[in-house]
Amino acid sequence: MTGMRVIGWGKALGEKLVTNDDLAQTLDTSDDWITERTGIRQRYIGGSVASLGTQAAQRALEVAGLTGSDIDMVLLATTTSDQIVPSTAVVIQAALGVTGGALDLNAACSGFAYGMVVANGLLATGMKRIVLIGAEQLSTITDFSDRSTAVLFGDGAGAVVLEATDGPGDLLSSVLGSDGDLKHLLYAEHGGYLQMVGKEVFRKAVQVIVESASEAMVKAGIGVDDLALMVPHQANLRIIQAACQRLGIDEAKAMVTVDKYGNTSAASIPLALVDAITEGRLQAGDLVLLTGFGAGMTWASAILRWNP
Ligand code: ACO
Repeated sequence: MTGMRVIGWGKALGEKLVTNDDLAQTLDTSDDWITERTGIRQRYIGGSVASLGTQAAQRALEVAGLTGSDIDMVLLATTTSDQIVPSTAVVIQAALGVTGGALDLNAACSGFAYGMVVANGLLATGMKRIVLIGAEQLSTITDFSDRSTAVLFGDGAGAVVLEATDGPGDLLSSVLGSDGDLKHLLYAEHGGYLQMVGKEVFRKAVQVIVESASEAMVKAGIGVDDLALMVPHQANLRIIQAACQRLGIDEAKAMVTVDKYGNTSAASIPLALVDAITEGRLQAGDLVLLTGFGAGMTWASAILRWNP
C-alpha cells in the first residue's frame, strides 16, 4: 500500500495590497460593511497564475530540500488559468525544471482539496513526488464596478510537495462531492466576470461543509475533539463560524486568513495551511480537517495527519 505525506510548503501573494478603504474610493461600499458581512479587511491583487504558482512551488521545494528534477508531476488547482491552452501547469513545470507530467485541475474553490485526493491516487501508481499548487488570479474575472463581488476576491498561491510513503500515509480520509444542477449559483462565462447568488451560495456552503466534514471524520474514525485544526476554504468569516458552530468545533481551532487575503478560491486552503504551519499551529501527529466548497457546486473534505 502506498500513501503520502507533506514534505514542503510555500505561498505567494499578489503584488499590490488593496484595503477596503481603497475599494470604497471607487465603489459604493465601506470598510464597515465589508468587515461585518465578510470578515475581509484587505486582499492582494496582481501577478499571474503562473508567476504566483511558480513562486509558491519554489518555496515549497526549498522547504523540502528538493529541486524540480526530483518531481514527477505538477498538479495545479485553478479556476483562472492564464490561457485556455496550454495549461498553466506546464508553464510552471518548465519554470521549475520538472521533467514529469503537468495538469490543471478545475474544481473551483474545492480544487486544492480535490488535488490532495488526486495526488494521493497518482502516488499510488508509482510516482515518488508531486508538487500540488492552488493558484488564482481572480482579479481577471472580477468586475471591479460591481460591489457585490469586487470586495470579495484576491490573488495568490499556496503549494505543497507530497511524497509517496510505504503504508497508508497521512491522508486518512476524504469526501468529494458535486452538484452541477447548482451551476447557476456561481459562474463565469468565457471572457465574462464572476456572477454569484451570494445568499444561496452561503446557505449551501455551510450545508456541504458540515455534511462532508462529518462524513470525512466518520471515515477516519475520529471525532471533532480529535481535531487540532480546521483549515476551511476562506470565502466569508461568517460561513466559517456557522460551520464550526454546527459541527461543534471550537472556533479557535479554525484557521482564518480571509481577513488578510480575501477569497482566493483554490489558493485559499493552501495559503491558510502554510500560514498555520509557519505560525506554529501544527505539531507532529496533529489531525487537520481541510474543507472546501465552490462553484459547481463542488465540495471536498479531507482529514490529514500532520507528520512532515
Ligand atoms: N458594500 C455595501 N453594500 C453592499 C455590498 C458592498 N460591497 N454588497 C452588497 N451590498 C448591499 C446589497 O445591495 C444589499 O442592499 P439592499 O438590502 O439595499 O438590497 C445589502 O448590502 C445586503 O446584501 P446581501 O447580498 O443580502 O448581503 P449578505 O449578507 O448576503 O452578504 C455576501 C453578501 C458577502 C456575498 C454573502 O452572501 C456571502 O459571502 N455569500 C457567499 C459567497 C461565497 O462564498 N462565494 C464564494 C464561493 S467560492 C468562489 O467563488 C470562487
